[in-house]
Amino acid sequence: MASITLEPRNRDGSVTVLQITDTHLFADSQGRLLGVNTAQSFQAVLEAIVEQNVEYDYVIMTGDISQDYSADSYRRFAAMVRVLGEKVFFLPGNHDDGPLMYSMFAPLGVQVERRIICGNWQFVLLNSEVYSMAHGWLQRDQLDYMLHCATQRQELHTVVCVHHMPLSVGSYWLDTQGMHNQNEFMNCLERLPNVRLVLTGHIHQEFDVTHGAVRFIATPSTSIQFQPKAREFELDTANPGWRYLRFNPDGSIETEVCRLLSSFQPDRAAKGY
Ligand SMILES: [Fe+2]
Repeated sequence: MASITLEPRNRDGSVTVLQITDTHLFADSQGRLLGVNTAQSFQAVLEAIVEQNVEYDYVIMTGDISQDYSADSYRRFAAMVRVLGEKVFFLPGNHDDGPLMYSMFAPLGVQVERRIICGNWQFVLLNSEVYSMAHGWLQRDQLDYMLHCATQRQELHTVVCVHHMPLSVGSYWLDTQGMHNQNEFMNCLERLPNVRLVLTGHIHQEFDVTHGAVRFIATPSTSIQFQPKAREFELDTANPGWRYLRFNPDGSIETEVCRLLSSFQPDRAAKGY
């Protein structure tokens, strides 16, 4: 699996990342997910990010780029995301077609490397997709890749990026769709003292907890939001969002979530997605 080495743009050696997640785009530009036109909400997020003019080293998209597994939804993403700069990395989510993405993104200008080394940090991008299923599962080759990267460069602080959250988020319906081999994943993490953060999408809400020595962070979607702590499927009226992260050379992390000021209200009567 290919890796890339980048120089941090900040003189102090800190690495800055923009995270976007769960765009859920369609082949059709008018495609709607539970009442929200996902291309329009993503476009609004892109415009807000550009307007903020915050500098970052690169972008990590943590999955569910598509809602319909279509090549055209990936072409749409690649064309839209160009305004965020040259370095946009991704990993597949449960609504994606991983093999299709890895085969088509490079010529469209989206980075296909699975490991980014930058300053005192490395980022390992894993694929937890189980095609056409909502839950996630990390195959042995993905776990081995994480173990390999973290142990090969033990001096680097390590961020594991994966679509599915390997912890309970206190929402019964979402927790049944989590990473189904989370115990195996957590057992691997225990052997990797240089892992500082697990960064995910999938749960369509802000989440930030520390478990043992590792921080687990998830980020609002650029489309619909899920109500935190809801037992049954329930949408939140919070606006689409994104996240900035700063990774300091000493291993500490600073982060901030931003949201649109304008709303994209979903159909709240929806019973699932
Ligand atoms: Fe999603």
